[in-house]
Amino acid sequence: MDFNKRLDADCALVENFLSRCFVGREQYADLYDAMQYSLMAGGKRIRPVLTLETCRMCGGNVEAALPFACAVEMVHTYSLIHDDLPCMDDDDLRRGKPTNHKVYGEATAVLAGDALLTAAFEMMAEHRAGLSAERVLEAMDCLSHAAGAAGMIGGQMLDMEGEKRPLSLEELKLMQSLKTGALISAAAELGCILAGGSDTQRQAVHTYAQCIGRAFQVRDDMLDVTSTDEVLGKPIGSDAENGKTTFVTALGLEGCAALVDELTQQAVQALSVFDEPDFHIWFAKLLAGRDH
Ligand code: IPE
Ligand code: IPE
Ligand code: MG
Ligand code: MG
Ligand code: MG
Repeated sequence: MDFNKRLDADCALVENFLSRCFVGREQYADLYDAMQYSLMAGGKRIRPVLTLETCRMCGGNVEAALPFACAVEMVHTYSLIHDDLPCMDDDDLRRGKPTNHKVYGEATAVLAGDALLTAAFEMMAEHRAGLSAERVLEAMDCLSHAAGAAGMIGGQMLDMEGEKRPLSLEELKLMQSLKTGALISAAAELGCILAGGSDTQRQAVHTYAQCIGRAFQVRDDMLDVTSTDEVLGKPIGSDAENGKTTFVTALGLEGCAALVDELTQQAVQALSVFDEPDFHIWFAKLLAGRDH
């Protein structure tokens, strides 16, 4: 099986679904344009891919999972719009394009983020055909927990704290597991929930996603130092400019590379409970070596 082709096919499903959201609205056209602008700016779509592929790995209906996968991407996109604002990381480039607030202004960017977050939950409630109410509710519970104060937002608070004082390695790990890990984990767990996976499968998916999530942020911190704006599609050196504590400041580049390898191995090991984990194994290795 050519996993690159499968990844392309998953991404095409996501792009197609997302491209049909929020178009042709006559009221508040600027708001919908701003939402659509960031949503369709060409992200890697790793979170929705994880939802779709984890649903497949757990024996579920991938078609029914698609709106949920796209809901996760909406939450992620909103988080990036807000993360780039002048009051947060103050960045001008995202997904190879000017950031949302640079194009639409700060107020509209804030509202576009708010609207994307809300739309995600509206979409899960609306597109529940073929799924039991119990599974839909559990999926919404999982995503809301990951996105909120006990998850991603808490991590963003710690990230801001890390601009004012150096964070310990333990705090850094907690920050990562919240700001990045929580949503990546929820993306994968949603696939398992929608497929009606067992508790053992859910636990294995959770461990896998926690490991690739941490490796993902370590790699993100490395690329902020080693990449270029053109390749990355966002400004390099942003962390240093904001005086952030990152995995690079804590462990150095070599330490980071070793940690990414270790976490990727742990992620692969967690998949032993599945009959067909090959895509997920390949995907963990792909992310470990990514250059953008
Ligand atoms: C960037 O996420 C923010 C982090 C959590 C490190 P991605 O690297 O997945 O960004 P896109 O979606 O591809 O733009
Ligand atoms: C972003 O972390 C995490 C969230 C948006 C929740 P970063 O600030 O490191 O992400 P980039 O580097 O701007 O993509
Ligand atoms: Mg940030
Ligand atoms: Mg940032
Ligand atoms: Mg970063």
